[in-house]
Amino acid sequence: SIDVSTLTRQTGYTALDYGFVNTAATKSDITFIDGDQGILRYRGYPIEHLATHSSYLEVAWLLIYGELPTPEQLERFDDRIRHHTLLHEDLKERFFTALPHTAHPMAVLSSGVSALSTYYEDESDPANPDHVELNMVRLLAKLPVIAAYAHKKSVGQAFLYPDNSLSFVDNFLKLNFGVLSEEYEVDPVMSRALERLLILHEDHEQNASTSTVRLVGSTGADQFASISAGIHALSGPLHGGANEAVLTMLAQIRDSGQGVQRFVEKVKNKEDGVKLMGFGHRVYKNYDPRAKLVKQSADEVLEALGVHDPLLDLAKELEEIALNDDYFKERRLYPNVDFYTGVIYKAMGFPTRMFTVLFAIGRLPGWLAHWRELHQDPKTKIGRPQQLYTGSPERDYPGV
Ligand code: ACO
Repeated sequence: SIDVSTLTRQTGYTALDYGFVNTAATKSDITFIDGDQGILRYRGYPIEHLATHSSYLEVAWLLIYGELPTPEQLERFDDRIRHHTLLHEDLKERFFTALPHTAHPMAVLSSGVSALSTYYEDESDPANPDHVELNMVRLLAKLPVIAAYAHKKSVGQAFLYPDNSLSFVDNFLKLNFGVLSEEYEVDPVMSRALERLLILHEDHEQNASTSTVRLVGSTGADQFASISAGIHALSGPLHGGANEAVLTMLAQIRDSGQGVQRFVEKVKNKEDGVKLMGFGHRVYKNYDPRAKLVKQSADEVLEALGVHDPLLDLAKELEEIALNDDYFKERRLYPNVDFYTGVIYKAMGFPTRMFTVLFAIGRLPGWLAHWRELHQDPKTKIGRPQQLYTGSPERDYPGV
């Protein structure tokens, strides 16, 4: 690889790279991807091992601090997060009531993180390591609560207080599906399945939302501002929003009655700009290893939850046709992580509009790890791309 910044400074040339297809913005120790082989590792550990044997918080610690935690470190981390789950009452009572119940939960989540920052303005100095540690814990503890309240608001149910006797994932499930003054028993199948999905989403190196978090962080903005911006970046249908778009696409194919083959033809002919959502990836030119694991889980989880969803059959048919079609083969387009996740979230009872919110909770540890790495790297500079100006040359204002 070439250090382009030095080269361009010496030669006076500017590299034009739409979409940063061939530009590294940083060095990083966190996540390794080999897109041709379909390999993903967090801090050197294969994603398959972590998804099977680890927990969300253990992987969060690994991503942030670089090593797996000792049992004592993990217990302390877990305790601290449980201690910080409550939202300020004003935020809980007033922020959510100001929003329409039709608000998209991703907009609520991002605004909620911005609103959260206003309670901690005196403790948000990016240069103060104690503030940084504390706000990492606050964000990990409170993001799921904001997310669950966004869900409760959309279905018109009362908010529950966090139940800190429960694990991270079980608490989140109860906040979403528990009902005031009724017992809620967490289904262990659902809990483990959600934990596994969250682990699979925890980091993915310099994707659009992580790059956004890093860019905002490079200006000296605090963690809340950076994460709020990252959530907005994730919401787009070409990025995390694809998990919602996949379910919408599958439902449209089913409802149109036109069949899967006709839909694939539309995609290939680029009719109305239709894409096969949940397919293709900037880095993977092979099967996304996360998608492989999610696909395995989908059958197991739906069966264990006693759900038969024809949309899963439709998704499998779509994949089968696409993988055997020259259009997709030539372009090396395979299912990405978003292709099968929605079917599982739906079986768990989450509405489609919550899917990308679940992705955001999964991705939060990665964003925090990258924000921290950025600030610890002495080479960090404010992110500021160049442009090649193609507008009008100088001209006179009329009458001057
Ligand atoms: N359906 C149909 N055609 C596709 C798809 C798709 N999903 N993805 C790429 N292509 C085609 C493009 O039209 C292009 O064809 P062309 O050479 O004839 O013009 C070719 O494949 C190359 O695609 P690019 O758009 O150049 O690839 P890029 O790396 O810029 O985009 C992206 C990657 C955005 C993920 C793209 O594959 C896509 O839009 N996929 C659907 C949305 C999606 O699932 N996003 C989630 C990604 S994973 C994540 O962010 C968590």
